[in-house]
Amino acid sequence: MNTPVVRVVDLWKEYRENGQAVTQALRGANLEVAPGEVVALFGKSGSGKTTLLNLLAGLDRPTRGTVEINGRCLEQLGEAGRTELRRSRLGFIFQFFNLLPTLTAYENVFLALELAGRIQPQAARDALERVGLKGKEHRYPHELSGGEQQRVAVARAIVKEPSLILADEPTGNLDTATGDQILQLITERCRQGGTSLLMVTHTPLACRYADRILKMVDGVVTEDEKCR
Ligand SMILES: Nc1ncnc2c1ncn2[C@@H]1O[C@H](COP(=O)(O)OP(=O)(O)OP(=O)(O)O)[C@@H](O)[C@H]1O
Ligand SMILES: [Mg+2]
Repeated sequence: MNTPVVRVVDLWKEYRENGQAVTQALRGANLEVAPGEVVALFGKSGSGKTTLLNLLAGLDRPTRGTVEINGRCLEQLGEAGRTELRRSRLGFIFQFFNLLPTLTAYENVFLALELAGRIQPQAARDALERVGLKGKEHRYPHELSGGEQQRVAVARAIVKEPSLILADEPTGNLDTATGDQILQLITERCRQGGTSLLMVTHTPLACRYADRILKMVDGVVTEDEKCR
């Protein structure tokens, strides 16, 4: 069997304040995502979805349990190794787009490549074309609609041809029709590139786009349904 892109075993996360355990955000979560698999993650507010994504990205560290990305244990990689993995192998798409406001669409995408050690202007232009933004490369984020800004964020994620894209409510700040277009775009681009996707979403249409639906309940991931 292929090595899973994501392997999470018995993952716990406690947020502490003044040394006191205040919140147990993850309580023994388990998860595997196969290469090229598109997974939607549902769950109530506060159930631990963003906490899980942050741990997968190596942006925060678990209280206990293990996270492996492409078969490599994040804890063993160390801080520098996690940063390198994030820059070269992972893509991110957020609810509020998180583009740099002083950079154009093209520069936002190119910067992601540059941080991955790849100076490839044509790849940045191609990625923008693949998300339907040809001709708008030199606009600043404030000169683009919300849907267009999220397209830039999708281009920024796919341009690295990452093995995994993590998306946290990527349509949460868009109207339904625009959100559907963005969902379709993200999933289509991931399938085309063989990229795995783990996406937090509340859309009832998730089955239309995902291979598998998971649900986060009180810090534990449960299997919801298979869509295909
Ligand atoms: N930095 C933090 N410090 C303390 N507690 C936190 C921190 N981040 C999250 N929490 C708590 O951990 C729990 C899980 O939060 P998390 O953000 O993972 O939920 P979520 O499922 O993403 O919710 P939402 O759907 O509202 O985004 C919540 O009780 C939250 O208050
Ligand atoms: Mg969240």
